[in-house]
Amino acid sequence: MSFKTTLTRMWLTRSFKPFLFTNEYDEELKFEDLDNLGLYVHIPFCERICNFCPYCKVKFEEELCNRYIDALIKEIHSVGNRYPGKKTTTSLYFGGGTPALAVGRLGEIISALEEHFIITEGIGVELHPSNVTPDMLRILKAAGVTKISIGIQSFGERFSRILGRNNTDPEVLKKALDEVSFETVSMDFIFALPGQTFEDIKSDIDTAFNCGANHVAIYPFIDFTFTSSKVKAMPKREKRALLDKITAYCTGKGYPRNSIWTFSSKEEARYSSMTRDNFLGFGCSATTLLRDRFKINTFSVEEYCKRVESGRLPTSLTIKFTTRQRMVYYLFWTAYSTKVDPKAFEEFFGVPLKKKYGLEFKLAELAGFLTRKDGIYTMTPKGAFYYHYYENFYTLAYIDKMWGIMRKEAFPEKIIL
Ligand SMILES: C[S@@+](CC[C@H](N)C(=O)[O-])C[C@H]1O[C@@H](n2cnc3c(N)ncnc32)[C@H](O)[C@@H]1O
Ligand code: SF4
Repeated sequence: MSFKTTLTRMWLTRSFKPFLFTNEYDEELKFEDLDNLGLYVHIPFCERICNFCPYCKVKFEEELCNRYIDALIKEIHSVGNRYPGKKTTTSLYFGGGTPALAVGRLGEIISALEEHFIITEGIGVELHPSNVTPDMLRILKAAGVTKISIGIQSFGERFSRILGRNNTDPEVLKKALDEVSFETVSMDFIFALPGQTFEDIKSDIDTAFNCGANHVAIYPFIDFTFTSSKVKAMPKREKRALLDKITAYCTGKGYPRNSIWTFSSKEEARYSSMTRDNFLGFGCSATTLLRDRFKINTFSVEEYCKRVESGRLPTSLTIKFTTRQRMVYYLFWTAYSTKVDPKAFEEFFGVPLKKKYGLEFKLAELAGFLTRKDGIYTMTPKGAFYYHYYENFYTLAYIDKMWGIMRKEAFPEKIIL
């Protein structure tokens, strides 16, 4: 871990205490009294594996997939049964992997969740471009899906080749999306690939909005140490120039920025499983964030099934946050939406933001990272770039290390970050 990351963590958490993940609290899960609780379900199967992708996934096999979904439904009931009655939640997101590979059983998973939870803000599903057919979209819509997110990565043939993916025909997407509508149609892109110019990205954004998207997510390419991809990340300066141009282009077009990476063509279009105060995650590698806990399920599909079949929760590691650590975590993910509302912070923690991080916010304002309007802090383009930059650090310092270990060991004894 870099010295800079460690120092920042110590400053912000006001402690020398590192983040300690253990398997001491595997079965503890208290969510009864939490508001703004989201749900997430992970489906770890893909038809073909992309070598740049860090997510938990294996090659699709029907038998394994069915065994996995049986275990998933068992995990849902075992968590849901801890709450008497039905708990109100916000949204449900299916991610992966490629959730559409389990489309035949999606309805069953949703029904299992609806036995324990009331979903008030719709259901989102991540799709591979090859899933976008009128028939598939109709099935998803009939199952209650209201938002879809399609992993395009790039419409440019050269960049699809760099990423080892088949090229996507926008006309085919448009035809399917014209036939079946959703409240949010988001498309994912990766930028900062070798040789990529602003014109390439602008063309991707325009094509996305012309073929049926009302929301785009533009992620910088991250070169995870444990993936076998040979693609190298672009140097900081070039990346910044690209990001500034993307931001100026989208805001100039009047597309509201609703998170660090996302822009929409209409205000209501939203797709984010990250910016929620608390969430319950089901399936392998799924994370759960509660008042003072963060837990991660095992990354091994086989061990996940075995654990759940034996009647236990598939928790691999849990961290019991100190209040300061939880505050830092809260602020990090709230800032992802580019806005921090001091009132919401005070409601969540029962203490004013000013009292805990007044100095940091003042310094960030003076440095031009934030502006304050109607009491709410909003990130400037400069602030957004440094957030990007810091998130990249964070991803490589924490997520890369943790996922790297968890891909090899199903239930590590502990991880110290
Ligand atoms: C689980 S995948 C998307 C859904 C679907 N499986 C697909 O490939 O189309 C989620 C998104 O993460 C992003 N992503 C994956 N690997 C990445 C990397 N190394 N750097 C940056 N973004 C990445 C991609 O934009 C991808 O669409
Ligand atoms: S990018 Fe999508 S399709 Fe490719 S391996 Fe990752 S989850 Fe699977």
